[in-house]
Order: sequence, then C-alpha cells, then structure tokens
Amino acid sequence: MDPIQSRVDDLISRMTPAEKAGQLTQYFYFRLPAGAADEPALGLDVEKQPGMVESALAEGGAGSLLFVTDPAEINRLQRLAIEGHRHGVPLLFGFDVIHGLRTILPVPIAMAASWDPETIERGQSVAAREARAVGIHWTFAPMVDIARDPRWGRMVEGAGEDPYLGAAVAVAQVRGFQGAGLGTPDRVIAGPKHFAGYGAALGGRDYDEVNLSDAELWNVYLPPFRAAVDAGAGNVMTAYMDLNGIPGSGNRWLFTEVLRETWGFGGFVVSDANAVRNLLTHGFAADLTDAGARAVNAGVDMEMAISDAAYGHLTEALESGAADPAAVDASVRRVLEAKIRMGVFDSPYVDEDRARAVLADPAHRDVARTAAERSAVLLRNEGDLLPLDARRLGSIAVIGPLADSKRDTLGPWVFDFDLDETVTVLDGIRAHVGDRVRVDHARGVRVVQRVFPSMFDMFGDNRPGDPEGFDEEAEFRRAVELARGADVAVVVAGEWQNMIGEAASRSSLELPGRQLELLQAVVETGTPVVLLVMNGRPLDLRWPAEHVPAILDIWYPGTQGGAAVANLLFGAVSPGGKLPFTWPRTVGQVPMVYSHTRSHEPENQTRRYWDEESTPLFPFGFGLGYGRFSYADLTVDRASVAADGTVTASVRVTNTADREADEVVQLYLHQRYGSASRPVRELKGFRRVTLAAGESRTVDFPIGPGERRYWNAAARDWVTEPSTFDVWVGGDSTAELTTTFEVA
Ligand code: BGC
Repeated sequence: MDPIQSRVDDLISRMTPAEKAGQLTQYFYFRLPAGAADEPALGLDVEKQPGMVESALAEGGAGSLLFVTDPAEINRLQRLAIEGHRHGVPLLFGFDVIHGLRTILPVPIAMAASWDPETIERGQSVAAREARAVGIHWTFAPMVDIARDPRWGRMVEGAGEDPYLGAAVAVAQVRGFQGAGLGTPDRVIAGPKHFAGYGAALGGRDYDEVNLSDAELWNVYLPPFRAAVDAGAGNVMTAYMDLNGIPGSGNRWLFTEVLRETWGFGGFVVSDANAVRNLLTHGFAADLTDAGARAVNAGVDMEMAISDAAYGHLTEALESGAADPAAVDASVRRVLEAKIRMGVFDSPYVDEDRARAVLADPAHRDVARTAAERSAVLLRNEGDLLPLDARRLGSIAVIGPLADSKRDTLGPWVFDFDLDETVTVLDGIRAHVGDRVRVDHARGVRVVQRVFPSMFDMFGDNRPGDPEGFDEEAEFRRAVELARGADVAVVVAGEWQNMIGEAASRSSLELPGRQLELLQAVVETGTPVVLLVMNGRPLDLRWPAEHVPAILDIWYPGTQGGAAVANLLFGAVSPGGKLPFTWPRTVGQVPMVYSHTRSHEPENQTRRYWDEESTPLFPFGFGLGYGRFSYADLTVDRASVAADGTVTASVRVTNTADREADEVVQLYLHQRYGSASRPVRELKGFRRVTLAAGESRTVDFPIGPGERRYWNAAARDWVTEPSTFDVWVGGDSTAELTTTFEVA
C-alpha cells in the first residue's frame, strides 16, 4: 500500500469526530490593530481571538492557521499544535501571497499584461521561496477569476477578461508557486480561487450575486480553473457570492461533480473566509450545524474562519446524520495528505536565520524589477516623445502624490513589505539621471479618501494621507509652475491602492479627485508631458488619450517599480506589455469585451449608444513599444482538416525600427457558422518575442481541436464543428492580416 495512504489511514483511525473536525478548521490568527473591533465585517472579539485559537490548538481543534508570517511565531504556534496534543498533527500555515511576500512584484493584472508565462512563473517562484522560508506552506493564489467589469475592484488580482490568456497565466502561476508538485523545496501549495464566477458580480459590486449562463460559465469563467487544476494545483478556494442562486460554498455540483468527478481534482478545497458560516447569512442554512453539514457534504474540505467555525459543530452534524461521515473522512484524508506531501510532518519548524537571509536575497529584487519592466503597457507615444534622452534634458518635473508614495507603488494585498527598500517613480528617476538633470517634485493635489472606508484601511499603512499643513491651492500652483519651467513633465495619476482590490468596487472610472484638472493644467503649460498611470483597472482616459503625447500604464509596479519605470522612460528597455482587458471609454460602456458575438445589425456595432461610440478607447491586446512591427505572409499549412486535425498558422514578424524591442504576437480565431453564434474573434495563441533592429522571425501557432472546441448551450456539451474558420494574427485584437481554413 502507498505509504502516504497508510499513514493517513492510521491517523484517521485514531481520531475522534472532534479531532477530525479540527483538521478541517482553519483559523485566522492575527493581533489586530486598534479599531479592528469596530469592523463589523470581521465579526470577532479582537482581544479574545488569539487566545481562542491557542486553546483550540491544544485540543486539536484547528488544522491550519492563516495570517501568521513571522517565522518565530510560526514555530511557537506549531509547537503548541504538535506538543500540546496527543496526535501531534502539525499545522498547515496559509497566507495571501498574492504578488510577493517581502519582495513585492507588480500586481497580478500587471503580470498578466506581460503576456509572458516565464516572467510570471519566475515571479511567483520568488514569492513562494520567501513564503516557504518564513514557514508558510500554502498561498491563497492565483486568483483566476475572469473580470469583465472594471467596476469590480478585484480585477487587479486576476488576469483580465480573456479565458485563453487567463488559463495561460493561471498555469504559469501554479508552476511558479508549486514547482514540479507538492513538496518541491522552496515552494508552496497553490490555491486557485474563487471557484467559481466571482468576477461577474452584479453591477461590479463586490460580493453581490452572480448569474451566469452555462455557456459563459464553461467557455469563459471555468477554463482558467480547469487549466490550474490540470497544472496540478493542490488547493482550490470557494467563492463568497451566490452563483445562479446557490451560495458559492454550498454548491455540491461545483466541488464534487465538476471539480473532482469531471476534472479529477485530487487536492483539497478551502472555503473563503467565513464563507461556510455565511451560508446562514445567505439564507441557505438553518444554523451553524446545518451550514457545516451542507458545506462538507458539498465537498468543501476545510473551513476558513475568523471565529465561530461552523465546522466546530460537525460532531453534532455527524451525530444527527446531517453530515455524511464518508465526506468528513474524505476531507480529513485530503488535508492530511497535503500535510504529508508538503513534508510538514517531517520538518514542521523553520530556520529563522535562513528566513532572514532568503527575504534579503537581492536576486529577488532583480526578478521584481524585470517583471515591472515587462508588464508596463505603452498606450500612446505621439511624435516618439518616449524614450526620453537624459543627455538632452536639463530638468524634469515629477508631478502627483502617487509619484512618491511608497505604499501605493506596491499596490493592494500586501502586508509584509519593506517600505524602506521600495523605489517610487520619483526615486527611480532621480537614481537614473543622477546629478546631471534637475528633478523636482510637487504633489499638486490632495490625497483622495474613499467615501466608504474599507476593512483593509485599518492596517497601518493602507490609508493614504497628506503631509501636515498641506495647502492644495498653493501646491497646485507650484506643480504647474514646476512643469512650466521644466524640459519635460512626468505626471503620475491613478487610483490610490486602497481604492482597488477586495471591497473596492467603484461606480465611476474617473481619475479620483482633481488629478485630471492638474494634468490639464500641466499640459496647458506647453511642456511635453508623459502620463504614468497607476491602476489595476481601466480608467476614463478619454481626455489624456487625445491631449497627452505619451501615456505609459505602469500599474502598481511593486518594490522595484520606480527603477523599472526609469528604465522604461529613458529607453534602457522598451515597453512590451499588452492590455489583458478591453479599455472602455467610459463606465457607461461596461462590461465591454472584444470577444462578443455579431448578433443583430453588426454594421452598427460601433454605434450602439447614441451619445458615445461603442468602441473601446484601447482594444484588448493593445500596447506600443519602441520598436515598429510589421506582419506579413500569414499562411496555414493546409486549407482543410478533419475534425480532429491540427492546422498550423505561420506569420513573419519584422521589427523595422532601429532598436531591439518586444512584441506579443497574437492569434485570433473565428468560427463562421455552426450550431451556436460564435464570438467575432477569440484569442487562441500568443507569443512574446524579442527582435533586434531589422530582425524578422516566423512564428507558428498550432490550431487543433482544443482551440476550436466550445461548450454548446443547445447540446449541453463540448463540440467541435465543421465550419470555415477565420484566422487573424497581429499585435492586438484588431489585427487585420487574415486567412481561412476549413474543418471538414
Ligand atoms: C478573500 C480571499 C482571501 C481571504 C483570506 C477573503 O476576504 O476573498 O481571496 O484569500 O480573504 O485573506
């Protein structure tokens, strides 16, 4: 018999129902800042929470903890679990290592904009190495939720609107976090989330209900999960909201029928925070015992709880027959198996000295800088204003409060960062040009506060503020005067990091506060302006897109963000990222995707509104660079294939510029007719290439049944159909170079 199985069997045979329930319970453990007690979303007694968790550990009442990142604390708590209880089952430590632990990488939407699976995998392997070094075994990432409505703040955590790109990014992240499989040294368990459909929250309002058709679910929202599971992800997290009327953590069809039975997922499922208890709130479960029974029967192995775990009532649920004992045992088995595979039984403690050394590894900062360079997207560059030539500049005015905000440079969903080593845009520019060029900074406008603060604002550095005695009128004038007297003005504008992420949905996409007004005043001085956008979602840039010569989307670029931005501005590297979403003109157009169907009167598709074009401001896949790319000779290696055959499309790409640059070559496919209307085009291949000045390269894309199949609402199944297929290849989703082939 498999030694892991016999070890698991032996342990289970010696466990009481309460001890089993304990293995299935995960608690937050944090010493919360003052003020947290007033946070209703947390629903806990702040003072008592750590003590409650520690006594649970001594009784075998918890199998996992989250939110502990100090290796000494991790060792102390681990000792409580192992030495305090007769079975001595070690804890699994989980945490949201979303885009880095100490070394902060660009936010996930930025990483997706690199269209570069290697960069993404390398980035998450650094995040995993730091996490594992401090004693974390498991990350609640990647978030692979498709996001098509930018009002939804969590768009920043995912890979954007497209299932094909989303699946590729999901796979790269799972590989980065986990390595070859559970138990790989220096790696952690990956937990794709939130299964499923969370990104389609009604009105973009976080946590609101989701109603998705079967076709959207299978063709758009599920593929990144499927890809992450196929890549070996060891965990999956549930979602908070109702999906088609069923709460995300009580949906047996999702966790048992789809995930395990259809996809063969062998890992364990964890609920989102308090989501099992919340089955009560939804009006789905009668009480906590019922909530626990429903979740475990549905296939939710572990409950993530702050306090009052529903799984604390599993013994009653087992006694009454509400919880299926076989389901409980299967869940315990999965959790224990993960612990054994991760080596937690064999080496439960961490080496605190080594942890310090790993966190300080300078190689990690290099990975973060490269990732930030590769994820920036150049949206406009009139008259080739960029790259700037530092030798020809006497002075640079750097404008905007975000230009020198370390905390905002890092973005949301980080807790263990080191502000001292964070490089802002201002720092980066200064370091790059040295004493040769005069660099002045003016904030220009006041920090904007949320109308409704978020629960994340209680964490020390998360809430932005103005310097003491800040006089906005005087500062506004000073910014404009600085710009007037400078050779170039670099304006940094966007959303403060607490305006994006969880519980950060917005009803507008405008630049918050007076940032647009400031930008307009700076542009009016006549000084050439570069706009750097700091964001995790598209913003309303209609005015800048017409009046500001250069616009570079830098996202929240992370620890080394400013250094990367300077390298991009001054041309040490060329921007090569591409948009992972359609960039609307205005909030009234959302949701807006490139892969819509033709529907009725497609000739009017750009004029569906009478007051604004129904075209995007920037299309999906768009991004400029310092190269110039031409596409030619698009061919397919056969004009017709059988239903199970593969066609290879080839294209020649040439960099006609006089410098090296990157391009993301994209292939789009369209099925002309069949038993459903198919999208006008869908991404089915991409490759990021670096071409020297004048270099040409032929890029091939296989188009097999996997690229052509889709879930058909009429057949209620996957189909591949005979049809004529259009192929387009180019540098964004409006590519015009085209050819066709037939599937017989
Ligand atoms: C979020 C999850 C996260 C969890 C733990 C929840 O509020 O929805 O994505 O992993 O908290 O921090």
